[in-house]
Amino acid sequence: MRRCDELGAISDESGRLTRTFHSAGMKRANALVGSWMKSAGLEVREDAAFNLLGRWTCARRSAKTLLLGSHLDTVRDAGKYDGPLGVLVALACVQQLYDQSRRLPFAIELFGFADEEGVRYHTTYLGSQAVAGTLAPATLNLADADGITVAEAIRAFGGDPGRLGQARRSADDLLGYCEVHIEQGPVLEARDLPVGVVSAIAGQSRVAVGLAGVAGHAGTVPMGLRQDALCAAAELVLAAEALARDTPGLVATVGQIEARPGASNVIPGRATLSLDVRHQDDACREQALAQLRQRAEQIAAARQVGLDWRIAQETRALACDPALTERLAQAVQAQGYPLLSLPSGAGHDGVAMSALAPITMLFVRCKGGISHNPAESITTEDVQVAIDVLGQFLTLLAEDRRLSHHQDTKTLRS
Ligand code: GLV
Ligand code: MN
Ligand code: MN
Repeated sequence: MRRCDELGAISDESGRLTRTFHSAGMKRANALVGSWMKSAGLEVREDAAFNLLGRWTCARRSAKTLLLGSHLDTVRDAGKYDGPLGVLVALACVQQLYDQSRRLPFAIELFGFADEEGVRYHTTYLGSQAVAGTLAPATLNLADADGITVAEAIRAFGGDPGRLGQARRSADDLLGYCEVHIEQGPVLEARDLPVGVVSAIAGQSRVAVGLAGVAGHAGTVPMGLRQDALCAAAELVLAAEALARDTPGLVATVGQIEARPGASNVIPGRATLSLDVRHQDDACREQALAQLRQRAEQIAAARQVGLDWRIAQETRALACDPALTERLAQAVQAQGYPLLSLPSGAGHDGVAMSALAPITMLFVRCKGGISHNPAESITTEDVQVAIDVLGQFLTLLAEDRRLSHHQDTKTLRS
């Protein structure tokens, strides 16, 4: 908890916690967490995407590797647990192994991913996609609000975008990926449980919408003759809300909106907005997105404004790996807690990592379900449970006959 506080004080902005992909804050965060990793006996480095990576090696050369971790970037004006908690809980478990001089029949690699939130480039999982080898080359050309591309950001951090492929982790020796994360919702609190096991992660679509009207004088242009881009945007915001309210399981959010040129006496000639649409069922999400696009076209036509609809990101819903999740569930029960399995509406690095290895996730209760908010709050007692459950999970994996008997098993998926 002290480490979460310390890390929470490292920000790109004064007075609030914001740490985005390849920012000055991220550099300091990697250095701090890297120093903690070293003191737990890990071999530490940053990969070509500047994910922080600590390896705890097993004596046996043929040993397989379990991946642990979460992300070290944050949203704007963030809480201090979304992401860092998963890195620090895993680190606490490795620290215990180190302190007790315990060996396991597998190695551990602990990741602090460089981008899960997608704040700077509006597309998520830049760090974990680089590790999974699924980062599209065109991503390097994306520009942030200041026009700095991903490639330039990597160079400014001292890296070489041409070598980004080197961050790719081979899948050959992997047992899987396990991530601890705050729930970011109210279910565990309502059920009076410290932890829960994640069944699946919702798919998400992020759209960048541009509306082009005609800027004009706020005092002279009659209402019936306006092509107000912001009014068109406002209609679309409410259409998204209405559709999501009427569609079970659908959530839709406009989290960013901008009107240009941006003066109280100028009719907005241009509006841009972000649209985030999620559902556990991909067909439902795709259908909702098609409906919203059609609605946007109708609004634009009726108001005589131009519409630009650009999909910034699309990730499919993901079911967690049954075999690994069964072991995680056993670990929860072995620690004396009832099992609750719940889906995640939030996205997680596990989505990207699933291209590389089977994944499983443990959620930790957070107060009031509040997240993406500086009021994010968790208890020391619940964090202790999460450390114990993850430690138990490692023990159960270590006791797995397929691992301890030196057999050539590919992954636990089989
Ligand atoms: C990440 O927090 C996301 O789900 O947007
Ligand atoms: Mn997160
Ligand atoms: Mn988040």
